Amino acid sequence: MRLALCLPLLAMAAAPATAAAPPHLVPQGNTKQLIVDDKPFLILGGELGNSTASDLAALKPHWDDFRRLHMNTVVAPAYWELIEPAEGRFDWSSVDGLLADARGAGQHLVLLWFGSWKNSMSAYVPGWVKRDQARFPRAQRPDGQGSEILSPLAPANVAADARAFAALMAHLKAVDGDRQTVILVQVENEMGMLPTARDRSPTADAAFAAPVPRALTDWLVRHRATLAPELKALWEANGARISGDWRSVFGAGPAGEEVFSAWCFALHADAVARAGKAAYDLPMYVNVALNRPGSAPGDYPSGGPVPHLVDVWKAGAPDIDLIAPDIYFRDFGEILDRYARPDNALFIPEANQAGRAESPAEAMLAFGRYGAFGFSPFSIENAKGPGAAALGEAYDLLDQLAPLILAARGTGRMTGFRPKVSFDGAVDDAPQTATLGDYRITASFLDTWAPKEGQRTETHGALVIRLGPDDYAVAGSGVTFTFAPVTPGPPQAGLERVEEGHYVDGVWRRGRVLNGDQTHQGRFVRLPSGSWGIQRVRLYRYR
Ligand code: DGJ
Repeated sequence: MRLALCLPLLAMAAAPATAAAPPHLVPQGNTKQLIVDDKPFLILGGELGNSTASDLAALKPHWDDFRRLHMNTVVAPAYWELIEPAEGRFDWSSVDGLLADARGAGQHLVLLWFGSWKNSMSAYVPGWVKRDQARFPRAQRPDGQGSEILSPLAPANVAADARAFAALMAHLKAVDGDRQTVILVQVENEMGMLPTARDRSPTADAAFAAPVPRALTDWLVRHRATLAPELKALWEANGARISGDWRSVFGAGPAGEEVFSAWCFALHADAVARAGKAAYDLPMYVNVALNRPGSAPGDYPSGGPVPHLVDVWKAGAPDIDLIAPDIYFRDFGEILDRYARPDNALFIPEANQAGRAESPAEAMLAFGRYGAFGFSPFSIENAKGPGAAALGEAYDLLDQLAPLILAARGTGRMTGFRPKVSFDGAVDDAPQTATLGDYRITASFLDTWAPKEGQRTETHGALVIRLGPDDYAVAGSGVTFTFAPVTPGPPQAGLERVEEGHYVDGVWRRGRVLNGDQTHQGRFVRLPSGSWGIQRVRLYRYR
């Protein structure tokens, strides 16, 4: 059912010869590294509110705020409706203005292609697409009514989208290929069908009654052992068939219809990404509107790259490099557990609303434990107050540590800690342990040396990097560590030396040497709550 696309090759202005390869991903350990200007890059980002980048004058005052927050990347939309106001006539002023302002502020950009779908709806398609329902078919409801959602099954829809996106990528290559302001591109935004599990148009009905493509059933067979449990259970409950129509392979209910929707959206996104990459080969991802526990497909955008459908997307969209969850739910770590896979380097384009007090701790967990290469709260231009200041402190610290974090990603030399938070917000701040090298590290989240009242331990978090056999860097806020050897030799660990300080251009500059009350006379290492800092720890072993 792969949609046959015959996209015209776009005339491309040649970019000036560049010394550096375009931004790309390379494997490192069990993840992938984002390479920008030939060097690994860590995205300390923030995403703009949806309409902000359509008025660059209004955005102007915020660039200084981004610098103060120690951000290095702004995540910003590229709007199809502004870029191609008439079919085949492109207006690059919104993109070029954004590039110029980002460069002037020393920021990179992640561009979001607000193309066929934005939060399921097709609100960002140009007027000439909106008004021509005959040429650009809409998804239909069961009663035959159209919706403001383009059908993911119409070749004309995908062709128009892919052509515009390829034009954007060709333009970026021409104007930014030698600058690498744009380092990553999101294809569409939070795809998925509403309010039903799938498009109910006659075309969709016919496709639903056709055989499931081999590309999908082969994937299920090849990856059976590692499939998302919900998808595996659904497939197996229907006999783990390797052929048949969608109903017979995945069942007649909404869960099976959702698999069909996922396949249709994945093929569309893949065709768009493929056309874009042919013009300018940048790393590309899709973002996810997550489903609440217990909700049904169609209550949330059905068939998006939600946790239980990651395999369908991986099978259907090989040109999409990664699937990036937008995390507005509180069980941040549990969600990352579903997306941190060897075939899915982690980026969080929308880490809830900017300015929340939890953001810095979530960032520590994302980078430290899950090896994310980027983190970006939403509506960053509206971040205000103590939560925003704390994010700035945390980004400062992450910026200092970036060379160490980048070297450790995917290698097992780094971890992160934050209390476990459930979907409904219950905080489990029991101590947690992790082993790095020769030591087991125990992290406690209640800052016993600060007043208990008012401590919100879900805002406490840290990352730990192993620097050598007995050496660690710890960074964060509100976390206290103890260490115990796990390898043969003297069974107890003591603190030989603890320093607080900063990294300047990758070189450690110590401040105070911490001992006495600051380490409870050598019993623990403490990152005080209320501020974000880095300490270096040298351990020794004794009997
Ligand atoms: C998720 C979307 O991806 C964003 O564009 C924005 O609509 C936010 N939701 C709003 O919270």
